[in-house]
Amino acid sequence: MWTVWTVGLLVCVCVRVNAQLLSGLPSQVLLHDDDDDDDMAEQFSSLKESEIEMQNMKIDCKVTSRFAHTVMTSTALNKANVSREVFFEVELPKTAFITNFSMEIDGKTYVGEVKEKEKAKKEYETAVSSGHTAGLVKASGRKMEKFSVSVNTAANSSVTFTLTYEELLQRRLGKYELMIRVKPKQLVRHFEIVADVFEPQGIMFLDTNVTFLTNDLLPLVEKSAHVFFSPTLDQQRKCPGCDSTLIDGDFVITYDVNREHDLGDLQIVNGYFVHFFAPRELQQLPKNVVFVIDRSGSMTGKKMTQTREALLTILDDLYEEDHFGLVIFDDVIESWRPTLHKATKENVKEAKKYVSSITARYMTNINGAVLHAVNMLTTSKKNNSLPDNSPSMIILLTDGDPTTGETNTSVIQDNVRNVTRENISLFCLGFGYDVHYGFLEVMANQNGGLARRIYESSDAALQLKGFYEEVAVPLLLEVNLQYPDSMENSLTTNHFRQLFGGSEIVVAGRLNDSQADKIHVEVSAQMLEDPFVVQGQVHAEEWVLMFPEQEYIFGDFTERLWAYLTIQQLLNEQDKCIPKECENVTSEALDLSLRYNFVTPLTSMVVTKPETNATSEDLLIADKLTEDERIDVPVPAKRVMAVDGDPHFIVELPEQNDALCFNTDDKPGTIFNLVKDPVSGLIVNGKTIGDKKAEPGSKQHTYFGQFGIVHEKFRIKLMVTTQKIIVSEQGRQEHLRWSQTSHVKGANMDLELSKDHSLTVTLRNTLKFIIMLHKVWKMHPYHQDYLGFYTMDSRHLSQGVHGLLGQFFHGVTYEVSDVFQGKDPDKPDAVMVVKGHTLTVTRGWQRDFRKDVKKGENVPCWFIHNNGTGLIDGVLGDYIVSDIFTTITKKEEKK
Ligand SMILES: *[C@@H]1O[C@H](CO)[C@@H](O)[C@H](O)[C@H]1NC(C)=O
Ligand SMILES: *[C@@H]1O[C@H](CO)[C@@H](O)[C@H](O)[C@H]1NC(C)=O
Ligand SMILES: *[C@@H]1O[C@H](CO)[C@@H](O)[C@H](O)[C@H]1NC(C)=O
Ligand SMILES: *[C@@H]1O[C@H](CO)[C@@H](O)[C@H](O)[C@H]1NC(C)=O
Ligand SMILES: *[C@@H]1O[C@H](CO)[C@@H](O)[C@H](O)[C@H]1NC(C)=O
Ligand SMILES: *[C@@H]1O[C@H](CO)[C@@H](O)[C@H](O)[C@H]1NC(C)=O
Ligand SMILES: *[C@@H]1O[C@H](CO)[C@@H](O)[C@H](O)[C@H]1NC(C)=O
Ligand SMILES: *[C@@H]1O[C@H](CO)[C@@H](O)[C@H](O)[C@H]1NC(C)=O
Ligand SMILES: *[C@@H]1O[C@H](CO)[C@@H](O)[C@H](O)[C@H]1NC(C)=O
Repeated sequence: MWTVWTVGLLVCVCVRVNAQLLSGLPSQVLLHDDDDDDDMAEQFSSLKESEIEMQNMKIDCKVTSRFAHTVMTSTALNKANVSREVFFEVELPKTAFITNFSMEIDGKTYVGEVKEKEKAKKEYETAVSSGHTAGLVKASGRKMEKFSVSVNTAANSSVTFTLTYEELLQRRLGKYELMIRVKPKQLVRHFEIVADVFEPQGIMFLDTNVTFLTNDLLPLVEKSAHVFFSPTLDQQRKCPGCDSTLIDGDFVITYDVNREHDLGDLQIVNGYFVHFFAPRELQQLPKNVVFVIDRSGSMTGKKMTQTREALLTILDDLYEEDHFGLVIFDDVIESWRPTLHKATKENVKEAKKYVSSITARYMTNINGAVLHAVNMLTTSKKNNSLPDNSPSMIILLTDGDPTTGETNTSVIQDNVRNVTRENISLFCLGFGYDVHYGFLEVMANQNGGLARRIYESSDAALQLKGFYEEVAVPLLLEVNLQYPDSMENSLTTNHFRQLFGGSEIVVAGRLNDSQADKIHVEVSAQMLEDPFVVQGQVHAEEWVLMFPEQEYIFGDFTERLWAYLTIQQLLNEQDKCIPKECENVTSEALDLSLRYNFVTPLTSMVVTKPETNATSEDLLIADKLTEDERIDVPVPAKRVMAVDGDPHFIVELPEQNDALCFNTDDKPGTIFNLVKDPVSGLIVNGKTIGDKKAEPGSKQHTYFGQFGIVHEKFRIKLMVTTQKIIVSEQGRQEHLRWSQTSHVKGANMDLELSKDHSLTVTLRNTLKFIIMLHKVWKMHPYHQDYLGFYTMDSRHLSQGVHGLLGQFFHGVTYEVSDVFQGKDPDKPDAVMVVKGHTLTVTRGWQRDFRKDVKKGENVPCWFIHNNGTGLIDGVLGDYIVSDIFTTITKKEEKK
């Protein structure tokens, strides 16, 4: 959660500054060069000093009874003699709500206002259509999301940004974690992190892990309940005398509190109470768990390997008293054994053998698989083969949408809810980014479980295992927390199906009598044999006595914690409510969000930026993303659409776990429309070039030699040839050369140019693509340099998107049958039915050059002959346009 300062012309270790870049898009250019070189950097230090100076960065975090309140403040001075765009970027935890933001410029303060999301969106749309910009929150890795704004700052003046957010730290595996992300990207004159943890129960342990500090700097961190870190300029330097900062990473504080009373800890402040319940030393309960594992085609390869690896260790970790079952599914549902079995050494060994043999196959029948698992649990329970007072749970792991059996997600949810009958908890793990995560989350919510995303990376098996550990040790069942009846209306959830070891139950409420300083509490639950009952009268403690040296921090923390928890629970309630009540639930959550100034999925924060010369007042909007909206994470999108080589088109279809390919064959100089989206006003066109001359015995091949991209709304034009790149945004033009690595950040566009290799373009909320440069030896007798085009993320485009590639962005359905021997013995033919046409297609492969621009990687695909006729809408000629920046076709022009 912290602060990236991407400041204009932040030439950290950068060299060979291109004069053009300095005069072009001045404030928004980040430069980089592969050949970093400190001597060269030294030469430019005077230049750096004349630019923006980060004077101050302070992170102040106060945790009061698990409720964390963080304020991040940054001040930058524009030392240039012209105005500069100054950026402020902060990463904060996904679970936090932003509660305030302000910027102070020239003595004037601009404060963000929390508004209903719909209203904010309307303002935003008005602003955008009149050419103004808007800042948004983006997902950022697994735990964080990124808040960013920029503001034009006059010469010799400074700007101070202040961001505040709050979050309730959740106890997991026996500890609370407070994470602060710091990425200042440059040296900071006054840098400071202060974290104070006030826990009335007393702190049992507290660890600080600073990922960017080496052992010799670690002593800089003062530890106790007061953590302080304030390195000097010299201590921030990566090496003596150099200007790059070593501060770049996470500052993580983990701790746990003492637990002396079984009743837990209860705080009463200003008429609100919060109760934390996590008794010690309970005997663990046996559990009944069915693992439901997706083995559809998309799990092929690494995902399947990691899943097997995780399952093998999880099976080993089962307790001997546990009962377990395994269901694996694609379009066929299979189980290791028809009922649950006790986790004896022998059974575990057998199950492991079975797990080792799981391989990926075809489709995804989630409905059938989960119902099957429920059936196993209920059958086993009915014939008394499971112990009393043992919780039953299903852990579903899937990486895709339901594609066979019942595929309507709301019907699946109804079916599952109907059979679990509130006594089986369903935990859903969504593996990767092609899952419909929202669907899984709702289904888990409806069945007393929770959903998690498993990120596709080398540690996926560890993530799976980590999740399992959180639910591995049930301690109590049917936990009921009772407070005086009069509080019922304001109480957060006070019944929990189970309490797991290492976690904690939190309940908050409003007292009728705001002066009250004691309440009666009763907790009852079921243990293995006996019931668990504790009760007592709890008194408000004197905070002043507990923390005499500390001035009281924020006296309303119980109230804000209550509001935070209530909003979170109402947001979850939205998944479970019956339609009549849903409106109430949503309006209550919105009401509280507005009242307490929380940026939640129902609200947005709107900031009006100061006037600049280019535009009048600018609007910035910060949203809270829902998990489904967080897909914008640095994981390559599965569905890659590409055109490369002698134009061969590749359409990857993750749903079918396959790809389609076709070539286009026309005269050099032809311009094809690849993408057009009428809603965003996006156009991507490509112009072909030919070989210098035909190779003997071959025809003259064509390739793409130029791409033209237009985004009308953002007023962006981009032209890429094998020689150069010209970009303009809102009238400002910039030239880049392939011979130089650079990074250009515009208001709605981000360009990353990797020297002589590739250009990655991100158009905000629109499209992300990569253009690859194929360099050919200059003296080559036939070939010349050419380009390839790969879309990486096209999910934001409208349903109306079209073009040679664009028509496939939302998938295409086809069926292949009757595979038969074709002309080439290695490449069988088959019959394909697609878009109502019956075609003869050939199994082959095309090359994807993203990873290896020389050799490429083979992508197996069905090849559609004759310029893709039958697969593409219309004929190839329909896509030929008259200019690199237009969608007017040659045909239309002739008319
Ligand atoms: C800004 O300063 C530079 C060098 O210090 C100078 O060359 C340039 O003319 C100045 N620009 C303005 C607008 O004063
Ligand atoms: C937000 O911050 C501004 C400026 O620091 C302050 O004046 C205002 O009171 C804060 N608003 C809230 C709701 O805390
Ligand atoms: C910048 O501002 C400071 C104080 O406001 C002033 O002393 C200084 O002369 C200014 N510098 C320039 C170049 O305007
Ligand atoms: C600190 O965090 C890093 C990265 O998460 C981890 O690899 C390392 O083991 C941690 N160190 C300690 C002492 O916990
Ligand atoms: C429980 O049911 C299963 C399957 O119906 C059966 O194989 C098993 O023998 C039964 N066990 C008992 C104890 O009845
Ligand atoms: C729910 O289950 C009952 C009996 O188990 C069945 O009669 C009913 O049709 C089911 N409803 C749905 C919506 O599946
Ligand atoms: C909605 O809320 C109001 C006031 O809180 C309450 O009177 C009403 O009964 C609720 N309606 C439903 C359908 O729950
Ligand atoms: C903004 O406009 C004013 C007057 O219209 C002009 O004096 C000033 O130089 C302009 N500033 C910039 C940064 O273009
Ligand atoms: C592809 O289309 C072009 C015209 O657009 C035509 O000249 C060419 O012959 C076609 N090639 C094949 C193999 O159909």
